[in-house]
Amino acid sequence: MSKGMSGPMCDQIEVFAVCPADAIERCGAKAFSLSQVDDSGESRPFPIVVVRTFGDDYLGYVNRCPHDSLWLNIGSGEFFSSDRSFLRCARHGARFEIDTGLCIDGPCTGQALEPVALAVIEGDVCLCGIKLLEDDRFSEPFEDGDETMDITIHPD
Ligand code: FES
Repeated sequence: MSKGMSGPMCDQIEVFAVCPADAIERCGAKAFSLSQVDDSGESRPFPIVVVRTFGDDYLGYVNRCPHDSLWLNIGSGEFFSSDRSFLRCARHGARFEIDTGLCIDGPCTGQALEPVALAVIEGDVCLCGIKLLEDDRFSEPFEDGDETMDITIHPD
Protein backbone atom coordinates (compact mmCIF):
# COMPACT_ATOMS: atom_id res chain seq x y z
CA MET A 1 0.00 0.00 0.00
CA SER A 2 1.62 3.24 -1.11
CA LYS A 3 1.22 6.18 1.20
CA GLY A 4 2.91 8.65 -1.17
CA MET A 5 3.19 11.26 1.54
CA SER A 6 5.61 12.73 4.00
CA GLY A 7 5.86 11.65 7.59
CA PRO A 8 7.73 12.50 10.76
CA MET A 9 10.75 10.39 9.84
CA CYS A 10 10.28 10.32 6.07
CA ASP A 11 10.05 13.95 5.09
CA GLN A 12 8.99 14.51 1.47
CA ILE A 13 9.75 11.00 0.26
CA GLU A 14 7.44 8.23 -0.80
CA VAL A 15 6.67 5.63 1.85
CA PHE A 16 4.94 2.26 1.68
CA ALA A 17 2.90 0.50 4.31
CA VAL A 18 4.19 -2.94 5.27
CA CYS A 19 1.65 -3.85 7.96
CA PRO A 20 -0.63 -2.32 10.57
CA ALA A 21 1.43 -1.21 13.56
CA ASP A 22 -0.77 -3.18 15.94
CA ALA A 23 -0.16 -6.38 13.95
CA ILE A 24 3.12 -6.68 15.86
CA GLU A 25 2.86 -7.07 19.62
CA ARG A 26 5.05 -5.06 21.95
CA CYS A 27 8.43 -6.85 22.40
CA GLY A 28 7.57 -8.83 19.27
CA ALA A 29 8.87 -9.14 15.75
CA LYS A 30 7.51 -10.18 12.39
CA ALA A 31 9.26 -11.28 9.20
CA PHE A 32 8.33 -10.12 5.71
CA SER A 33 9.62 -11.62 2.47
CA LEU A 34 9.97 -8.72 0.05
CA SER A 35 11.46 -8.57 -3.42
CA GLN A 36 13.64 -5.74 -4.59
CA VAL A 37 14.44 -4.92 -8.20
CA ASP A 38 18.05 -3.87 -8.62
CA ASP A 39 19.48 -1.37 -11.09
CA SER A 40 19.76 -4.05 -13.79
CA GLY A 41 16.07 -4.90 -13.44
CA GLU A 42 16.70 -8.22 -11.71
CA SER A 43 14.42 -9.17 -8.85
CA ARG A 44 16.17 -10.31 -5.72
CA PRO A 45 14.96 -11.33 -2.27
CA PHE A 46 14.74 -8.59 0.32
CA PRO A 47 13.72 -10.28 3.59
CA ILE A 48 13.19 -7.95 6.51
CA VAL A 49 12.24 -8.22 10.16
CA VAL A 50 10.23 -5.51 11.89
CA VAL A 51 10.75 -5.32 15.65
CA ARG A 52 8.42 -3.54 18.06
CA THR A 53 10.32 -2.65 21.22
CA PHE A 54 9.07 -2.46 24.79
CA GLY A 55 9.30 1.33 24.42
CA ASP A 56 6.97 1.10 21.39
CA ASP A 57 9.57 1.94 18.78
CA TYR A 58 9.56 0.10 15.46
CA LEU A 59 12.93 -0.99 14.08
CA GLY A 60 13.66 -2.71 10.80
CA TYR A 61 16.56 -4.92 9.76
CA VAL A 62 17.34 -7.00 6.74
CA ASN A 63 16.63 -10.54 7.92
CA ARG A 64 20.11 -11.77 7.07
CA CYS A 65 22.69 -12.84 9.62
CA PRO A 66 26.16 -11.35 9.01
CA HIS A 67 27.70 -14.73 9.82
CA ASP A 68 26.33 -16.94 7.03
CA SER A 69 24.08 -14.46 5.19
CA LEU A 70 20.97 -16.50 6.05
CA TRP A 71 17.75 -15.51 7.78
CA LEU A 72 17.77 -15.37 11.57
CA ASN A 73 14.51 -17.13 12.46
CA ILE A 74 15.10 -20.67 11.32
CA GLY A 75 13.03 -23.38 13.02
CA SER A 76 10.88 -21.87 15.74
CA GLY A 77 10.54 -18.56 13.93
CA GLU A 78 11.68 -16.83 17.08
CA PHE A 79 13.84 -13.72 16.73
CA PHE A 80 14.71 -13.18 20.37
CA SER A 81 17.01 -14.58 23.01
CA SER A 82 15.23 -16.49 25.77
CA ASP A 83 15.06 -13.40 28.01
CA ARG A 84 14.03 -11.26 25.01
CA SER A 85 16.89 -8.83 25.70
CA PHE A 86 18.56 -9.45 22.33
CA LEU A 87 17.77 -10.49 18.81
CA ARG A 88 19.18 -13.94 18.22
CA CYS A 89 20.17 -15.93 15.16
CA ALA A 90 18.78 -19.43 15.62
CA ARG A 91 21.49 -21.04 13.49
CA HIS A 92 24.64 -20.53 15.57
CA GLY A 93 23.36 -18.36 18.40
CA ALA A 94 24.69 -14.90 17.51
CA ARG A 95 23.09 -12.24 19.70
CA PHE A 96 22.39 -8.72 18.47
CA GLU A 97 21.48 -5.53 20.30
CA ILE A 98 17.84 -4.79 19.53
CA ASP A 99 18.34 -1.04 19.16
CA THR A 100 21.48 -1.14 16.97
CA GLY A 101 21.62 -4.58 15.35
CA LEU A 102 25.23 -4.91 16.56
CA CYS A 103 26.34 -8.49 17.23
CA ILE A 104 27.72 -8.63 20.76
CA ASP A 105 28.16 -12.39 21.08
CA GLY A 106 28.64 -15.21 18.58
CA PRO A 107 30.53 -15.99 15.38
CA CYS A 108 29.93 -12.53 13.88
CA THR A 109 30.73 -10.41 16.96
CA GLY A 110 31.37 -6.82 15.98
CA GLN A 111 29.34 -7.03 12.76
CA ALA A 112 25.78 -5.73 12.53
CA LEU A 113 22.42 -6.40 10.95
CA GLU A 114 21.65 -4.07 8.06
CA PRO A 115 19.10 -1.45 9.16
CA VAL A 116 15.93 -0.71 7.18
CA ALA A 117 14.38 2.76 7.52
CA LEU A 118 10.86 2.61 8.96
CA ALA A 119 8.27 5.04 10.23
CA VAL A 120 4.79 4.61 11.69
CA ILE A 121 2.36 6.73 9.69
CA GLU A 122 -1.40 6.72 10.21
CA GLY A 123 -1.17 3.49 12.16
CA ASP A 124 0.89 1.59 9.59
CA VAL A 125 4.53 0.54 9.70
CA CYS A 126 6.01 1.99 6.52
CA LEU A 127 9.20 1.50 4.57
CA CYS A 128 10.88 4.79 3.68
CA GLY A 129 12.91 5.94 0.71
CA ILE A 130 12.01 3.20 -1.73
CA LYS A 131 9.52 2.86 -4.56
CA LEU A 132 7.43 -0.24 -4.10
CA LEU A 133 4.94 -2.03 -6.30
CA GLU A 134 2.59 -4.34 -4.49
CA ASP A 135 0.94 -7.49 -5.67
CA ASP A 136 -2.68 -7.25 -4.52
CA ARG A 137 -2.79 -11.00 -3.90
CA PHE A 138 -0.83 -10.36 -0.73
CA SER A 139 -2.70 -7.29 0.47
CA GLU A 140 -4.16 -9.08 3.50
CA PRO A 141 -1.27 -11.26 4.64
CA PHE A 142 -2.61 -11.79 8.15
CA GLU A 143 -5.97 -13.29 7.28
CA ASP A 144 -4.63 -16.79 6.80
CA GLY A 145 -2.10 -16.72 9.59
CA ASP A 146 0.83 -16.47 7.22
CA GLU A 147 3.36 -14.14 8.78
CA THR A 148 5.04 -13.28 5.51
CA MET A 149 4.02 -11.25 2.51
CA ASP A 150 5.51 -10.57 -0.88
CA ILE A 151 6.05 -7.07 -2.18
CA THR A 152 8.03 -5.90 -5.16
CA ILE A 153 10.29 -2.94 -4.54
CA HIS A 154 11.89 -0.80 -7.18
CA PRO A 155 14.86 1.42 -6.33
CA ASP A 156 14.42 5.17 -6.74
S1 FES B 1 24.21 -17.87 10.52
FE1 FES B 1 23.70 -16.60 12.21
S2 FES B 1 25.09 -17.15 13.76
FE2 FES B 1 25.64 -18.37 12.08
